[in-house]
Amino acid sequence: MKRLSRLGAAALLLMLSHPLFSEDGSAAWLRYQPVPPAPYANVPSEIVVPGTSSAERAAGAELVRGLSAMLGRPFHLAEKESSSAIVLKSYSAADTSLDQYTITNASGRIVIAGNTPRAELYGAFHLLEEIAATQSIPEAETQTASAAIRWTDEWDNLNGTIERGYAGPSFFFKDSHVRQDLHRASDYARLLASVGINGCNANNVNADLDLLTSAHLKEYARLAGAFRPWGVKLALSVDLTAPQTVGHLPTFDPADPTVIAWWKHKVDEIYTLIPDFGGFTVKADSEGRLGPSKYGRSPADAANVLARALAPHGGVVLYRGFVYNNHLDWHDPKADRARAGVDNFVRFDGQFESNVVIQIKEGPIDFQAREPVSPLFAALHHTNVAIEVQASQEYTGQQRHMVWLPSMWKWVLDTDLHAEDRPTPVKEIVEGRTFPLPGGKPRLGGFISVTNAGMDPNWLHHPMAMANLYGFGKLAWNPDEPLDRIIDTWTRLTWGNDPEVDQVIESLQLHSWQVYEGYTGPNGIGTLTNILGYHFGPGIESAERNGWGQWFRGEPDGIGMDRTPSGTGFANQYPPLLAARYNSLETCPDDLLLFFHHVPYDHKLHSGKTLIQSIYDTHYQSAREAGEYVPRWMTLKGRIDEDRYQQVLALFTFQAGHAIVWRDAIDDWFYKTSQIPDAQGRVGHHPGRIEAESMTSTGYEPVDVTPWETASAGKAVVCRQSSGCSLRTVLHEPSGSYNIAVQYFDTWRGTSKFELLVNGNSVAIWSANDTLPPAQFDPHPDGQTSTRFAAHDIPLKPGDELVLRGIPDLRPDLNQSSREAAAPGALAPRTREQRDYRELAPVDYIQLGPGGPLTPRN
Ligand code: GCU
Repeated sequence: MKRLSRLGAAALLLMLSHPLFSEDGSAAWLRYQPVPPAPYANVPSEIVVPGTSSAERAAGAELVRGLSAMLGRPFHLAEKESSSAIVLKSYSAADTSLDQYTITNASGRIVIAGNTPRAELYGAFHLLEEIAATQSIPEAETQTASAAIRWTDEWDNLNGTIERGYAGPSFFFKDSHVRQDLHRASDYARLLASVGINGCNANNVNADLDLLTSAHLKEYARLAGAFRPWGVKLALSVDLTAPQTVGHLPTFDPADPTVIAWWKHKVDEIYTLIPDFGGFTVKADSEGRLGPSKYGRSPADAANVLARALAPHGGVVLYRGFVYNNHLDWHDPKADRARAGVDNFVRFDGQFESNVVIQIKEGPIDFQAREPVSPLFAALHHTNVAIEVQASQEYTGQQRHMVWLPSMWKWVLDTDLHAEDRPTPVKEIVEGRTFPLPGGKPRLGGFISVTNAGMDPNWLHHPMAMANLYGFGKLAWNPDEPLDRIIDTWTRLTWGNDPEVDQVIESLQLHSWQVYEGYTGPNGIGTLTNILGYHFGPGIESAERNGWGQWFRGEPDGIGMDRTPSGTGFANQYPPLLAARYNSLETCPDDLLLFFHHVPYDHKLHSGKTLIQSIYDTHYQSAREAGEYVPRWMTLKGRIDEDRYQQVLALFTFQAGHAIVWRDAIDDWFYKTSQIPDAQGRVGHHPGRIEAESMTSTGYEPVDVTPWETASAGKAVVCRQSSGCSLRTVLHEPSGSYNIAVQYFDTWRGTSKFELLVNGNSVAIWSANDTLPPAQFDPHPDGQTSTRFAAHDIPLKPGDELVLRGIPDLRPDLNQSSREAAAPGALAPRTREQRDYRELAPVDYIQLGPGGPLTPRN
């Protein structure tokens, strides 16, 4: 083995002690930073790859790259196997439906053997991961994938936007074409492969209508080529009207022979271009997409036409269970969107072809911060099923809040539905083991994550958010993988092996879902975001009194959906044991109470508190916990690279302020609706808070904010004068050191400017130029745009004069709509209109609190 030169050793030591090079996050968990080399001194430097497939070649190259970088000595590919080598091997296996690899490490030889070339690649990544996390390499280890389908869905549109994407535009598509440069697509596939993901459905489930033209298919072949070395199959979402819209047939009726022939021909065309094509995802009869119901046909009729065309080539159909009527009558106490999955699919159980999989969202509504598990998992006994989760944080803070979703997914996967009065956890159902095929063979099944990665260098915008994709891959490979191991490995790989860094990040991530749930929708009520807008900030009553069916029925007498037999009867869609548990107030868990029951506000929870007091308490506690991320993070300054440090600091600071927006919106709304005060006197009383509309104004005008609960006291002030406006107040606080937070609104496009002054001296100047997740036209001061700036440790004494100056952005050229197309995360072009984009330097309130690293808490 070649020894390190003295210079090399010195450089390595330097790198080990100063791991602070600036990083943009693009390497994600594949950073291959140097590790102490001694424990790996016996790792052979020759890598032998007898196989010739692109996946095996990629595996060999990855080992060279990763091992050289981490161990600081050269590794190389060798033609012939010597006594000391890392050897990648395939072995023939009767069943290759589940990828499996074995790593043996003995007598100076490491053999990675896989039952498929892709499995060899997974084995190579596993070995690299063990070294990166400074684990020892075991003498023998075998790993088998839990299920055949481990895919991500990306909701990219051909025009380059991404539906519910929060990290920039698409790296697959641009201007109605596949991008010329697919390096990033290939890098993404590499990341997916490194955690065992084997498929990527590249386009929006609300598929472009011209997706399947022959010209486009040739372009997808390039994309499939970028994925191929990483063992990731390309799949596409299709719109069932394609025989009409692309094929110009008079119908898309799945029973029509010309339609059947069209699909067969189209699928054959795809496979001549993409021999390893994965299959189709279908969203039909849902949210405006047409489907088989137009012709009185069933989901099975439609799915089977596609499935029969795909079967000879080995492709599958992922038919989404997300079929519901979004024009429900909210007056009807029996109407219930949650029922839709079971009501629409169970009668067709057993009628689907063997290569059709029903793709079921984890809960019966739509990726809320907490929902019960979908009962459809337990109801289909003769049909393949897969679970759909959402790493893209549509309802969970849109990658501006840190929320580690594997905690939630694990809870879902471990939930025992007790179908047929026996243990039937969701994980085993989606692995196809609970209701096997005749003969005991597991069904086809699996795991899908809607991920929506974008052009932001770090893929998902928040440096902490990639832990969700990583965790998804790990749970899809093995749903029994412990959460603490997943987060520990991700943290070491992403942030380094410094125990202090790892301890802080892991402890924050592990509880972040509960924290987010704690300051958003309580007790299973739904997230309580503005469901008619961007699903980001609070907008409580947007869910009520419309056809979307996300109702929670908040009335003066009480709150919650009655889903017991006296209400919609939804709870009875569960197998008897769970139905009984959810139907009874005695046994329904507190965290799902309002999903299943309509109860008075002073209903006593199992925790011993009343519902209303528990809501107040949880919101105060969780917003405070979110605020504490900032000082906890600050303890890591200097221990990680400055770029990522600053990025996370800015995001945590935003989250701390936005958690307070959430807390106050929900607590104020519950107080107003229930008329029951907070026993601790916090709700509606905010010591140190100065409402903007009550300050002495020069030029600022008060406006009502809608919905009222998203601004303190329901009001804000705006400035329409190009020279600016100001707010003034004289303070009566005792002398001391204070943090001063300014709660204001930052709408997209405009860049207002603010200056805070004490006794005429400037304390802080900042610009309202953030791109908050809507990243679309939202001129309103509301829960989506509310944000805060905090100045820390400012000395104040009684009689000091505090002034806030705001200069609005009234540039007429803000209204040029061409710029909207470039917006990260923008929705479909239909939202683009000529509108007024000026930003009127809106302000909600100023909050004073004790000095220190914590933004004022109240
Ligand atoms: C949600 C989401 C939509 C998406 C839909 C789906 O409703 O807001 O953007 O199209 O889910 O999963 O099909």
